[in-house]
Amino acid sequence: MSFPKNFYWGGATAANQIEGAYNVDGRGLARTDVTTAGSLHQNRQVTYKFKDGRTGKGSFIPSDATGAVLPGEYYPNQEAIDFYHHYKEDIKLFAEMGFKMFRMSISWSRIFPTGEEDKPNQAGLDFYRKVFEELHKYNIEPLVTISHSDDPLAMEEKYHDWGNRKVIDLYAKFAETLFKEYKGLVHYWLTFNEINSTVMFMHFGGHQASDEEYQHAYQKLHYQFVASAKAVQIGHQIDPNNQIGCMICGIATYPLTPDPKDILLNEHMWERDIYYCGDVQCKGKYPTFAHRLWDKHHVKLDITDEDREILKNGTVDMYTFSYYMSSAVTTHKDQEEVGGNLSTGARNPYLNYSEWEWADDPDGLQYYLEKMYDRYELPMMIVENGLGAIDKIDADGKIHDDYRIQYLKEHIEAMDRAIQNGVDLRGYTTWGCIDLVSAGTGQMSKRYGFIYVDRDDQGHGTMKRMKKDSFDWYRKVIKSNGEEL
Ligand code: BG6
Repeated sequence: MSFPKNFYWGGATAANQIEGAYNVDGRGLARTDVTTAGSLHQNRQVTYKFKDGRTGKGSFIPSDATGAVLPGEYYPNQEAIDFYHHYKEDIKLFAEMGFKMFRMSISWSRIFPTGEEDKPNQAGLDFYRKVFEELHKYNIEPLVTISHSDDPLAMEEKYHDWGNRKVIDLYAKFAETLFKEYKGLVHYWLTFNEINSTVMFMHFGGHQASDEEYQHAYQKLHYQFVASAKAVQIGHQIDPNNQIGCMICGIATYPLTPDPKDILLNEHMWERDIYYCGDVQCKGKYPTFAHRLWDKHHVKLDITDEDREILKNGTVDMYTFSYYMSSAVTTHKDQEEVGGNLSTGARNPYLNYSEWEWADDPDGLQYYLEKMYDRYELPMMIVENGLGAIDKIDADGKIHDDYRIQYLKEHIEAMDRAIQNGVDLRGYTTWGCIDLVSAGTGQMSKRYGFIYVDRDDQGHGTMKRMKKDSFDWYRKVIKSNGEEL
C-alpha cells in the first residue's frame, strides 16, 4: 500500500446531523430544524406557516411564509444523536479507532442565530472550542466545514436561499469569526459542503429544471463562490497556515453506450456542476463552457468586476469531495432510470446497487481521483465515503457489518491505486463514522457508522453508543496505515 506516512485517516459528520440541542444556549433555528423525516424513496419536506396561520409543507418555504415547527410533526435533526452532550464520549471512541482527523461542521445559527447579529453568540463559540480542545487531547486534527446545509432559517427566509448578495458578507463575517476564534486550533477548513449539489438537486428524480430554477441556482452558486473566495483570503490573512478547500459532491459519470451522443452528453454532465464549481474554486475564473450553460438556460448572472477579482484571488488550497457512487447517462430513453443521492441516471449493468439504489463503484473513485488531480493538480482529500445500510443487532448482541467493511475496503484499495498513479491524496474521512440522521431521508436506520447509536426513525431509543465489527476493522486499517484491510 502506498499511503503517505502522515495520511489523515478519520471520519466525517455535519452539525445538523449529529448535534441535536437545536434550541439551547442561544442557538437560532436552522432550515434543518423544520425538516421532517422522509423514507426510503421519499424526500424530506420543510414545514412552514403563513401570516394568516395556514400551515403547509413542501420542498421549499414559499416566499410569503416562514419556516415553522409544527405540532405533530417529527423533526429528526432537532435531537439527532445529541453529540452536543455526548461529544467527549464520541471523541474518545474516535480516538480508540486511531483517528487522525475528524470532519465536522459549525452550526451557523449557533454562532449567529439569525445570521445578522453584529456579535457572535459566546455559548456557541465556547461549545466548538471545547470540541476542538477535546480532539487535540487525542491528536485528532479537526477538519471544519464552515457551511453544511443548515443556514440560519431567518436568513434563508429573508434572503430566499442566497437570492441576495448581502448573504456574501454575512457568510464572510461568520467565516472571519471562526478563523479568528479558532486560530491555532483548526488548520483545515472547507468553505461549503457539496457546493455543486444546488444544481444536482434540481435534477433529482429526473426533474426537468426550468430556466427560473437555473437562474436561481447559478446565481446562488455565484454568490457562494464569491463568499468562499472571500473566506479563503480572510483565512489566509488570519493564519497563513490555514489550508482551505472546496468540497464537491463527486459523482463519477459515464456514458452508458459508445454512441458519440452519449459521450457528449456525459461530458456535459461533468461540466454542468462538477467542473463548473471545481474550475471556479480551484482556477479562480469561470470556464468557457459556463457561457454555454448560462445561454442555454437564459441565465443573466449578477456578476461584477470586483467579484471576478475576488474569485481570482481566493482560489482554494485543496480539492476535497464526497464519493459514494457513480452514475451513467444515455440519450437512449428506453434505459431504466435509477435515482440515487442527488443523481439520476441509467442503470449500469456492471455495478451492484445499495438498498437506496446507489451504485457501488470503487473504480469510479479511482477514476474521479485521477481525473480531478489531472485537472487541478491540488492536494486532495476524500471527505465523505461510506455505505448507508440497515444494521441489525444479532443474537450475540453484536453488529456484524461485513458489507460495510467490504465496501470501505474496496474503496481504500481504489485510493491506493490512484496514489500509485501519482495522485496527491492526503486524507480520507469516512462519512457518518458514528450513526447519524440521513440528510436525504432523515432516517436513522440508514446507518453509516463504525459506532451504532440506539435511536430509531421515530426518535425512540436510549442514544447508547455501541461498537460495530467495522470499528475494530477500521482501527486495524489506521494502525497499519492501510496495509491491513
Ligand atoms: C452527502 C452529504 O450528500 O451525503 C451528507 O454531504 C449526507 O450530509 C451524505 O448525509 C449521505 O447522504 P444520506 O442521504 O444517505 O444522508
